[in-house]
Amino acid sequence: MEIELQRVSKTYRMGETFVKALREVDLLIHGGEMISITGPSGSGKTTLLNIIGTLDRPDKGNILLEGVDITAYSESRLSDIRLKKFGFIFQQFYLLPTLTSFQNVYLPIKEANGYGSEGRRRATEMLEKVGMKHRLKHLPSQLSGGEQQRVAIARALVNDPPTILADEPTGELDSENSRMIIETLRELNRDLNKTVIIVTHDPEISRKTKKTIRMKDGKIVK
Ligand SMILES: Nc1ncnc2c1ncn2[C@@H]1O[C@H](COP(=O)(O)OP(=O)(O)OP(=O)(O)O)[C@@H](O)[C@H]1O
Ligand SMILES: [Mg+2]
Repeated sequence: MEIELQRVSKTYRMGETFVKALREVDLLIHGGEMISITGPSGSGKTTLLNIIGTLDRPDKGNILLEGVDITAYSESRLSDIRLKKFGFIFQQFYLLPTLTSFQNVYLPIKEANGYGSEGRRRATEMLEKVGMKHRLKHLPSQLSGGEQQRVAIARALVNDPPTILADEPTGELDSENSRMIIETLRELNRDLNKTVIIVTHDPEISRKTKKTIRMKDGKIVK
């Protein structure tokens, strides 16, 4: 899925002060690309990722998916796009603590397609793909950090979105688990042709992606 940002700006207001998180960012991402986004803290990386994933709206500029301008879409249309077109992975995993691995992965299928045995099969298959089939009934608190992130990846994949957005997915993990997570993301890109966009501070990760975007003060500098 092609994603295009045209002169996207975002300013946050905190009381009397205004923070320009993005300043007229232009960006074209082709389907099947693997991209890392780097840059100092506060440079706008998360804001950029959230705007790409329609979690946040720009206050100026346009967003096009497959050439269709979605900037002015209603919240309910955007949430439908989010559910089907994007899989999200976060530094803190954000698994629901009272649900098992299986239930966490099954939940977005229920949201998109309703209940069913096909959905249950798919949730199990995705957990198998990330090497977690032996932990279907564990709660997040009974899993290691690397295992929790693998469940989160299975959840991100379960509705087969064309695009995976990961915000510092290895920020909480040791180097071995980090490598495993990045390897999984590379496989998704290579074998399933997913577009993968990773925000990271780790130069080893950005070296492994074909394209790297560097941000500074709300702008893409490279
Ligand atoms: N919801 C918000 N309300 C107010 N200001 C915000 C909000 N979100 C981000 N900001 C500000 O916008 C700027 C960019 O934030 P952003 O989270 O995109 O940075 P980042 O590059 O992801 O940083 P980090 O590497 O620390 O995660 C920062 O100055 C931040 O304080
Ligand atoms: Mg951030």
